[in-house]
Amino acid sequence: MSTILIENIKKLVLAEEKPDIIKAGRAMSELPCIDNAYLYIRDGKIDNFGFMSQANPENLKSELVLDATGKMVFPAFCDSHTHLVYPASREIEYVDKIKGLSYEEIAKRGGGILNSAKKMKETIIAELVDSALERLEEIKNHGTGAVEIKSGYGLDTDEELKMLYAIRKLKELSPLTIKATFLGAHSIPAEYRGKQEEYVNKVINEMIPVVASEGLAEYIDVFCDKGFFTVEDTDRILMAGLKYGLIPKIHANELDFSGGIQVGVKYNALSVDHLEYTGEAEIEALLNSETMPTILPGAAFFLNMPYAPARKMIDAGLPLAMASDFNPGSSPSGNMQLILSMASILYRLTPEEAINACTINGAYAMGLSEELGTITPGKIANVFLTREIPSIEYMPYYYGSNKVETVILNGKMV
Ligand code: NIG
Ligand code: FE
Repeated sequence: MSTILIENIKKLVLAEEKPDIIKAGRAMSELPCIDNAYLYIRDGKIDNFGFMSQANPENLKSELVLDATGKMVFPAFCDSHTHLVYPASREIEYVDKIKGLSYEEIAKRGGGILNSAKKMKETIIAELVDSALERLEEIKNHGTGAVEIKSGYGLDTDEELKMLYAIRKLKELSPLTIKATFLGAHSIPAEYRGKQEEYVNKVINEMIPVVASEGLAEYIDVFCDKGFFTVEDTDRILMAGLKYGLIPKIHANELDFSGGIQVGVKYNALSVDHLEYTGEAEIEALLNSETMPTILPGAAFFLNMPYAPARKMIDAGLPLAMASDFNPGSSPSGNMQLILSMASILYRLTPEEAINACTINGAYAMGLSEELGTITPGKIANVFLTREIPSIEYMPYYYGSNKVETVILNGKMV
């Protein structure tokens, strides 16, 4: 039996005996906390918690006792959208962006995703795994305990499989909880320019069947946007994926009112992500769905794009998740503390709403509501201790530095 007792916790955040699976609308402001608390972890799971004053030392014997005086304990972040397996950084095109070229212009010049796809061909799995492990270590040290990772820099059957094998290896090697998404339809490869339908056929007929038969992905994604894949392409790919049990989680409405949100909802996508172009019709579609709207503040910030109307969406009663989109092109950071700050500064979310967006709602957007996202007896013990901080609000406020001091994943200090 392995146990950890964390005592004298200044504030135990998102401690809920029976949480709902998501927080939507007004409920996004609710952040159940216990002041001056203890947390008892047993065999990798949250066992129980309560007020320090009511802690019974007989029942809380533990080989490891952590004193959290002045510190807070949070559920670890659930980052539901990343592309953190990639062959190389792309800071050169970042300079092109500073000079004013748009995402689409860069893509047309063979930069962007196609640039990563070219480098992917020269990279072996072991290199992909090693560099991704470093990134996982970095995000873990900033408080992330679960992460979704996409393929999508292969754009060819063998190369896509290579990425998914790398993700499978990461699941084995990393203490983080990892979910894999197949994103063969991330961009049209150069050799298929003008023959988009043929590439879509290849995704459907060649890639999806192997990905599914080898059990390499839980989810399927399509970049449904202007200049990338159409609603019709997306419709066909999601339908094919569903036949093989791949649940949709798609890139939608980043560059235009693309219809991506609606087609995602039509296929009961677990999440639709980006959402810079979200109007009344999109909000209406989402309100009648079980799809988690997910905003990626890092990408909008880094690409200087319009910000999704987060406030309007929450005020309309929607839930909202936020994720890092960690990738070499549009968001080269997986720091979820920075996402908390951007949520508040750029999107006008209160600190409570921001924390819910990055934990419980993120967990839903990656199919982990039962296991993660809150501090709840029976859930996996993925939590972090902050350093001494004065308040909850300090988390988004004191942006740019790491407030996370100790990370516990699966009930072990890591
Ligand atoms: O989520 N929008 C599409 N895909 C990525 C960008 C990936 C890249 O540029 O490498 C995104 O922002
Ligand atoms: Fe993305």
